[in-house]
Amino acid sequence: MASKTQPIGVFDSGYGGLTILKEFLNDLPGYDFIYLGDNARAPYGSRSFEVVYEYTLQAVKKLFEMGCPLVILACNTASAKALRNIQQNDLPGIDPNRRVLGVIRPAVESIREFTRNGHVGILGTVGTVLSDSYPIELEKWSGGKVIQTTQEACPMWVPLVENNEIDTPGTDYFVSKNIRNLLAADPEIDSIILGCTHYPLLIPLILKFVPENIRLLEQGKLVSSKLVEYLARHPEMDEKCTKSGQVKYLTTENEEVFEKNATTFLGQNIQCEKIVLK
Ligand code: DGL
Repeated sequence: MASKTQPIGVFDSGYGGLTILKEFLNDLPGYDFIYLGDNARAPYGSRSFEVVYEYTLQAVKKLFEMGCPLVILACNTASAKALRNIQQNDLPGIDPNRRVLGVIRPAVESIREFTRNGHVGILGTVGTVLSDSYPIELEKWSGGKVIQTTQEACPMWVPLVENNEIDTPGTDYFVSKNIRNLLAADPEIDSIILGCTHYPLLIPLILKFVPENIRLLEQGKLVSSKLVEYLARHPEMDEKCTKSGQVKYLTTENEEVFEKNATTFLGQNIQCEKIVLK
């Protein structure tokens, strides 16, 4: 599809990346964006490294074809399992002037100011937890502060969000169970990273089960402020990103279902187009 705009691409396995896009639209009004949700193949969290990498690369290539000079992987699972490979092995051959960025670093860089006692809990998909990306990156970027991380995989949370089961007793059960497990593994946790872009959609429920003294770190605002900083530091990239205020939504599943759910998540009516990734 030929495009006159050069939008910033935002990719997620499904609806979760909308929690990031929402902040981009707030902080970068007027910029053009394309949001791509691979809803047909979500969730990614329980898929192997190879499959997440293959699917994510297909999405990045599609967004490049549509003119995006910059793609944000608004998905922790894709950031954990595919980002480094794409940056190091694929990008130089595809187009060394384009960029792909992820969502894990912004959360990791912020946690050292966030935690008071260094006990940090990570909630994420099975894929993100097994990749150990958060503990590894936290060790690298904690600025010398000793951080003790405890991870809990929440395999049911993304399917529940994808199926719009947010306000149901079933979701209540799984959210309370995973939070209980996390806090039992380290009762001293004072900060929890929501290490999956779908999880902010469950915050009202999460808050029911997390004691008040524990802080929740959401990625949306952090990732968005890092993108603003990135564009200021890279005027050559900022110049490429067109600014006609167009936002395009793409899904690999049924467009009407996407429109209905995305409208709930974003609080505004949107129109969506179906595409095939291969
Ligand atoms: N939003 C994705 C993430 O941040 C969800 C992954 C999935 O599809 O399981 O990890």
